[in-house]
Amino acid sequence: MHRLIVIGFSFISLTALAVPSLTTAQKGGGMDERRLIDRGDGTPPRWMTLKEAFRFSKEAHEKGRCAGFMDVTDQKPLKAPVSPLVESFRLRLDGRPLTQKGYLEGALPLLDPARVQETVKGLSGNRNRYYRSQYGVESAKWIASRFKALSASRPEVKVELFSHSFEQPSVIATIPGQGPHRNEVVVIGGHEDSINQSAWGSRDMVAPGADDNATGVATVLEVFRVMIQTGFKPDRTLMFMTYAGEEVGLLGSQDIANRFRNEKKAVVAVMQLDMTGFPGAGDQVVFMTDYVSPELTRFTQGLMDAYVKVRWSTDQCGYACSDHASWTKAGFPSVMPFEATMSTDNKDIHTTRDLISKLDFNHGQAFVRLGLSFMAELSVDAGAF
Ligand code: BES
Ligand code: ZN
Repeated sequence: MHRLIVIGFSFISLTALAVPSLTTAQKGGGMDERRLIDRGDGTPPRWMTLKEAFRFSKEAHEKGRCAGFMDVTDQKPLKAPVSPLVESFRLRLDGRPLTQKGYLEGALPLLDPARVQETVKGLSGNRNRYYRSQYGVESAKWIASRFKALSASRPEVKVELFSHSFEQPSVIATIPGQGPHRNEVVVIGGHEDSINQSAWGSRDMVAPGADDNATGVATVLEVFRVMIQTGFKPDRTLMFMTYAGEEVGLLGSQDIANRFRNEKKAVVAVMQLDMTGFPGAGDQVVFMTDYVSPELTRFTQGLMDAYVKVRWSTDQCGYACSDHASWTKAGFPSVMPFEATMSTDNKDIHTTRDLISKLDFNHGQAFVRLGLSFMAELSVDAGAF
């Protein structure tokens, strides 16, 4: 973590926030523990070790398919069907007018690829951000300290660590909405953890995770920075999230999405940013079409044409390849724009070679622009249409 401090970001004390103790980490990296794994292929969840789950995922990747899995060990069955609740706050998206052209004309030019790069450099300069390591815990605290520093002038903005059953907490920064829609929530997020899949469970593994997924975290932070700097006042509540434990079965995002569902939180839209820096298929944004909301995906493609002005296409991830699947499973609409097609993505992820030197921050800029457009447009009441 010391390397992060060297690049000049000050650390703000978060002693008031709950950080889980490290006692379980001392017991080992967790790869031989048996967990309840939902492979998402229609078969019931099965008990297996994480090692076995990864073998399944690796085999699928080798066949050109992204086969994620969900570790559902700690998830209680969801209460009651979600549909009546979701229907009561679902946004109408088809034909929805864009109302934030004026704001975005001024705000989009403030997005700075050099800042995104600096954040990726800081995060990937850590030995790892593994969900059960001290490095993983420190990385989460560092992200929280960045959110705090960026919003120091706005006392209504809250930055919280969200604790899980493992060491690394997720981070949630909230800009509260104002007026009748303030109970509705728009989320932008990406996972903060990293993994080296050939260092099974070692808490000392070398896992820089520059593309996967320091890029997504840096994108979320840059969108937050510009919204704060421009004094943006949303009608709906905006939440900026970095999820813990994605690489071992979407743990952090499942805890959050399921808690929000049980608390009947009106989450109207979620954007997932996971890998935005490797232009494997040239400068284009690829929308995953499975395990997402088709309406929200169509709406977000419209934002590409209106504001981002970069080519886009579609592909399929497979099953639960990232945190958007946790939101979808909990009944909330999500969208996942991705850096490349599945066949042209960054092959160095989950290794010591996932380094910043392989990334293109001009390509990454499309995602920062898209994220800002998404948060601005969806957090404001579009009126009758
Ligand atoms: N960033 C990847 C997901 C990804 C990789 C999407 C390549 C598209 C192309 C994510 O962090 C990941 O590695 N997911 C795992 C599944 C997870 C549930 C263990 C995967 O894809 O194997
Ligand atoms: Zn990832």
